Amino acid sequence: MPIAKGSGALFVVFEGPDGSGKTTQTMLLRDALQKAGHAVLATREPGGTSIGEQIRTVVHAVENGSMLPLTEALLYSAARAQLVGEVIRPALAEGRFVISDRYAYSTIAYQGEGRGLDRHMLQQLTRWATQDLVPDVVVYLDLDVQEGLRRKQQALDQGGEINRMDQQTVDFYRSVRNSYLQMAREDADRWLVVEACQPVEAIHARVLSHLSELCERRRRRVQGG
Ligand code: TYD
Repeated sequence: MPIAKGSGALFVVFEGPDGSGKTTQTMLLRDALQKAGHAVLATREPGGTSIGEQIRTVVHAVENGSMLPLTEALLYSAARAQLVGEVIRPALAEGRFVISDRYAYSTIAYQGEGRGLDRHMLQQLTRWATQDLVPDVVVYLDLDVQEGLRRKQQALDQGGEINRMDQQTVDFYRSVRNSYLQMAREDADRWLVVEACQPVEAIHARVLSHLSELCERRRRRVQGG
């Protein structure tokens, strides 16, 4: 079922480990929505604004190995504050679909469970940075940790760039995955967990059908008063 025009825009976030295919799915969804006649903004974290891309360079620079977890959390959050204020909120106000490759959940997973920062403090920080902007849907592309590392290594072997966050232990990535799965359980209505080892097209179709059901439910609610 296609997503009908005039069914109202959604804010959709893709989360998942490196190598899970978030960027591919972001682009496929953007193209599908545009083809159906919707106005769409696709963005990514950290980045998506000129200031955010500058922060990305600092936070990901391999030579910044001495960066403290707290500094890391604040920098990701600063980039996010700029992205939400400068790009995401205005796009939603114009009625555009917004798709983001990562969002605040990355901070909870990587800096929280991964780095060991206090989850409650991080939730407050991310709420402040986003001014309470919560997506309609979080698509979590779930991938076995070893498979994620294998895919990452393959990308590096093919000339992909290494960043500071790529240099973590297996335990770190396990913690990150557990944190994502916990968030998905705690907020099950918002989260769609998809096995990332499926073919790209199958994942895309699953995401599209989920979004179209959501839009349809919303439309019925509005019509029903
Ligand atoms: P990136 O090169 O964008 O790749 P991908 O998103 O495909 O993994 O790397 C982003 C890295 O930044 C990734 O390792 C996760 C990390 N990250 C955090 O640790 N916290 C955050 O809040 C965000 C947005 C990203």
